[in-house]
Amino acid sequence: MTPDDVDLVQSTFERVRPISEAAARMFYSRLFEIAPEVKPLFKGDMAEQGRKLIATLAVVVGSLHSLQTILPAVSTLAKKHVEYGVKPSHYAAVGAALLWTLERGLGAAWTPEAAKAWTNAYATLSNFMIGEAYGRVAAE
Ligand code: HEM
Repeated sequence: MTPDDVDLVQSTFERVRPISEAAARMFYSRLFEIAPEVKPLFKGDMAEQGRKLIATLAVVVGSLHSLQTILPAVSTLAKKHVEYGVKPSHYAAVGAALLWTLERGLGAAWTPEAAKAWTNAYATLSNFMIGEAYGRVAAE
């Protein structure tokens, strides 16, 4: 990711924060539409799950300029996901649902540059998580 990509991800994320509860609901309904097989993995309250997801994304997005400081915590989170029954292939569906939600939440601010920056950011995060949780071979 270039420094410009990081700036774009951070500024667009700030724009969706005021509507983050609605964005989280949209995200899960889209995720369960495109990947119904992951629905049974979620056992808890979905409003609470949505808050955790947004809070974690906020930390990751806020740390993009100094990503190495949060990588140990992200590695731990990735390994917890194996226990939740998450498979490497599920990351693509989550990424697609996330980008779909951002596109709708941002409207005209979802420019081609913003789309590229978010695609790069999610690829960086998910490749790292998959590598940590399942080993580098599975990530390829
Ligand atoms: C890529 C970035 C991701 C982030 C930032 C993220 C974030 C989180 C967080 C913060 C939690 C709560 C952890 C806790 O309470 O200790 C969680 C739980 C969970 N995540 Fe993720 N997650 C990601 C990817 C995924 C993917 C790809 C899936 C696949 C479907 C997934 C499915 C789940 C499930 C099933 C739980 C547990 C739900 C429950 O306990 O009912 N996550 N995630």
